[in-house]
Amino acid sequence: MAHHQKDTGAIPSEVPSPAEASATLYGLDRWGQGHFSINEAGDLCLHNPLREDGPAISLPQITKDLLEQGIHAPLLLRVTDFLEYEIARVNEGFAEAMARNDYRGSYRGAFPIKVNQQAQVVDRILECGRKYNYGLEAGSKPELVIALAHSLPKEALIVCNGVKDYEFIRLATLARKLDFNTIIVLESPREVDTVIEVARELDVEPMLGVRVKLTQKIGGNWSESSGDRSTFGMNTDQLVAVIDKLRDHGLLHCLRLQHSHLGSQVPDVNDVRRAVTEACRYFVELTREGAPLTHLDLGGGLGVDYTGERKAVENSINYTVEEYASNVVETVTYAMDEADIDHPVLVTESGRAVVATSSLLIFNVLEATLYDAPSAPPAEEGDHHLMSDLLAVGSYVTAARLQECWNDASYYRNELRALFRRGTIDLRQMARAERVYLHVMAKIRALAARQEDTSDIDEELAKMADIYHCNFSLFQSLPDVWAIDQIHPIMPLQRLGEPPSRRAILADITCDSDGKIDRFILGDGVSPSLPVHALGEVDPYYLGVFFVGAYQETLGDLHNLFGDTNVATIQLRGDGGFDLLHEQEGDTISEVLDYVEYDPEACIKAFRSLVDGAISAGQIKRTDRQLLMRAYRDSISGYTYYE
Ligand SMILES: Cc1ncc(COP(=O)(O)O)c(C=O)c1O
Repeated sequence: MAHHQKDTGAIPSEVPSPAEASATLYGLDRWGQGHFSINEAGDLCLHNPLREDGPAISLPQITKDLLEQGIHAPLLLRVTDFLEYEIARVNEGFAEAMARNDYRGSYRGAFPIKVNQQAQVVDRILECGRKYNYGLEAGSKPELVIALAHSLPKEALIVCNGVKDYEFIRLATLARKLDFNTIIVLESPREVDTVIEVARELDVEPMLGVRVKLTQKIGGNWSESSGDRSTFGMNTDQLVAVIDKLRDHGLLHCLRLQHSHLGSQVPDVNDVRRAVTEACRYFVELTREGAPLTHLDLGGGLGVDYTGERKAVENSINYTVEEYASNVVETVTYAMDEADIDHPVLVTESGRAVVATSSLLIFNVLEATLYDAPSAPPAEEGDHHLMSDLLAVGSYVTAARLQECWNDASYYRNELRALFRRGTIDLRQMARAERVYLHVMAKIRALAARQEDTSDIDEELAKMADIYHCNFSLFQSLPDVWAIDQIHPIMPLQRLGEPPSRRAILADITCDSDGKIDRFILGDGVSPSLPVHALGEVDPYYLGVFFVGAYQETLGDLHNLFGDTNVATIQLRGDGGFDLLHEQEGDTISEVLDYVEYDPEACIKAFRSLVDGAISAGQIKRTDRQLLMRAYRDSISGYTYYE
């Protein structure tokens, strides 16, 4: 989808405007789904997807306004309108598909709490989902406790998945007394015994489900969650045993739902169709066995097109939400009609597709390590001949000889390094050699930038990208980038009317060499470096990482004790402004110390006694005491990130 553009009435010219060029360069036209644009000032702007002709709201301006209110980067920005839009999209996608297929059942979404457990997010989802009878999926006792703390619509479901002990099953069963539609999905034959025990003890009829293990495998990152070797669900033999046991104990009539889950981010919609077909076979067979099934739950898997490629590859999907709904409904309609079975209530537990796009991470670049030298030092008398050779390369760099010049410069530089190691040349000579080398490389890069095809030296060019040091922790805020090579769209928030003059990889603020990002989605594919602008002296340079609302917040960890970032939840207004709905201050140092079993007060006490000891020993002045104690206290109550 094209990014928003104002119709100026001008005849389209062949040459794209700088803003259009940036939109194409960063792939905004592909992954942005029309929710982003670039304004005349070169700012990246947000569009409220719920208002067709709504204003473009500048992200740098939002960041600045929040900063003025004391909310600074790194910052997780939750845009509530995006969340509302995705909830509507899934629910209306199913409603429309059902209408088109004369489907005689209904759709009930259940948001899987694990995908984003934050209270603000879950509350907002339930608020926006109320009109659709949107419910929750709980995969653990704490998640069930969260679900039961909400007043849900009468029709909404609480689907209880995961490994369940007596307490879990007891609470889910008791909640039926409060009219919660808690469905206990039996994951294993063992859970049946506990269900029977609890039902007898409480004299409450549970609502039950069974999780079937589909044999159909999916592609993508979560392929292992599907097929025979997936760790969840029951095989045919176990299913039969469960049916028999439930029947023997007079509980078969409680079995209302069949559940299956393929794994997250299914790239190919035809995998979905095949899996749904298999799920329907189980549904038909279980019904024939006498289970009065009314709900078919197909779990999660609806993906997000992170790269905007619209292909069945990792980080992309070859379908839209609407196509997903359409394929599911069509497949179930055929299967049920063929078996002459009533159309069931269709349940899906889409998490990623509902929340991913609603959050973005904003951080500032702290400084840059440039692999560049604007000028080469002149030759000096007595230069080693290798130094003269290196200097000479600069004189024959041409577009036709890029690879050759690359080879020569690298060779001479490496030889000079060897001389330095042996003590033949000194530190200053080596520093000159490094500068000459970087200058030659800069010339090569500048020529390559003007060339259409640089595939022969792309790998070398990637090694010369600058390092932009950024104020965030990969491990805390983007754990999937580290753990499973997830790619999120990343781009500068400002100066987009200016062509970026540099390429960089991003390093985070942790002391871990893994704390870097070196794969970026651009308009022409995945690149090992990100086009960026040279850093200015005054204004902060902000980068945004998009679609981070799913899984990232709770999977993040405290590597180097960088804690949760500041969080702001905003709503976009029709007048071009925004309302701050909620602010969550990021962790203080005191809070992260607490997580790792330090008592912050005890730390202050311990530091004070060291200070007092130093005063007694005459090591520091009495007046230093206040200075030291204030610095320690200020730190312990401050933000864990660079301020
Ligand atoms: C049982 C179950 N339901 C739903 C989901 C959510 O999946 P997704 O985020 O792909 O929609 C998951 C996550 O993997 C899950 O395990």
